Parts: sequence; C-alpha cells; structure tokens
Amino acid sequence: MRMRAVIVYKSLHHGNTKRVAGAMADACGADLVRLGERKTPDLRAYDLVGLGSGIYHSRHHPDLVAFTAKARFADDARAFLFSTAGVPSLAGLWHRPLRAALEGRRIPITGELCLPGYDTYAIFGLIGGINRGRPGDRELERAREFARSLVQGQGAGALS
Ligand SMILES: Cc1cc2nc3c(=O)[nH]c(=O)nc-3n(C[C@H](O)[C@H](O)[C@H](O)COP(=O)(O)O)c2cc1C
Repeated sequence: MRMRAVIVYKSLHHGNTKRVAGAMADACGADLVRLGERKTPDLRAYDLVGLGSGIYHSRHHPDLVAFTAKARFADDARAFLFSTAGVPSLAGLWHRPLRAALEGRRIPITGELCLPGYDTYAIFGLIGGINRGRPGDRELERAREFARSLVQGQGAGALS
C-alpha cells in the first residue's frame, strides 16, 4: 500500500523553508500544509509526517514545536525533521527542541535535514546577508532525494 505523507512547515524570513518543503512534497507526493494557514492540520491520516521551519533563535519556530507536542498522530506514524538555517552545521543543536517534542510523543524519527538559507537577520543584514541564493538548485535536489528515500522506507540520517 502507498505511504501517505504530509509536510507541515512554517517559513517567515525569506521563504527559504517554503521552497525546501515544496520541493520535498513534489518529489514524494506528500500533502503540503503551511502551519497557521487554515485550521489545525489533522495528521491522523498519515504514515509519515515531515515537520520543518527556519531556525529562529536557535530552534524551530515555537508554533511548530507547540503543534508537534499536541497534534494527534496515527498510531504507527513516523516523522522527519527539516529546517533551513544561517548556520546549518549546528543543526544538531537547533533541532533539539522539536526532536524532544517528537520523542515526548514516542514518534520514531526517520531522518533530519538542515540546509543553508539566506539569512539577513541582525548583524548578517549589515554585511548583505549570508548564504545568498540558498537554498539553490543543489540544496533543493538534496531535499528531493531526502524525501524520496524516506517515502521508500529508507532512513535518511544526514543532518546537514
Ligand atoms: C529572528 C531570526 C532568528 C534567527 N536565528 C537563527 C539561529 O539561531 N541560527 C541560525 O543558524 N540561523 C538563524 N536565523 C536564520 C534563519 O534560520 C534562516 O535565514 C532561515 O533560512 C530562514 O528560513 P525562512 O526563510 O523559511 O523563514 C535567524 C533568522 C531570523 C529572522
């Protein structure tokens, strides 16, 4: 039977995570839901749930973490985390709160991915931003491959 997948995301700064979420959904046939766009998404119909946002102040968006802590998942659901960040090499740290929310729900995590996103926040704005043009083609292809491997039931461990 075909795996039913959904991707729930929040993207506020430059639409970086929106582009990644869209590429993933296209690649793996997942439904795509922007958190806050309409009534709270019902996850109970999905085998695989992707959760992602930009990293803001060292974590995923608080609304995404709060949603994850409260949402109703299918009994045997699995999840993956993704993000875009100014400094993706610290994804292990950035992903901790959302990872903890999933672990608190006893939802197995099958993969995590953090990609570089154009960042003009605070001091970076003064120097024209970092990661200009990213996520670009290379990162979006990486996001597609990551999503495909997950719906095919393979774990995709890479963080960044
Ligand atoms: C308010 C704010 C706080 C941020 N804090 C961090 C941070 O702690 N670590 C980091 O690596 N990037 C940080 N960034 C950069 C964003 O994570 C990055 O630009 C991301 O791609 C934004 O995604 P979005 O365009 O989907 O919102 C921050 C950006 C903003 C606007």
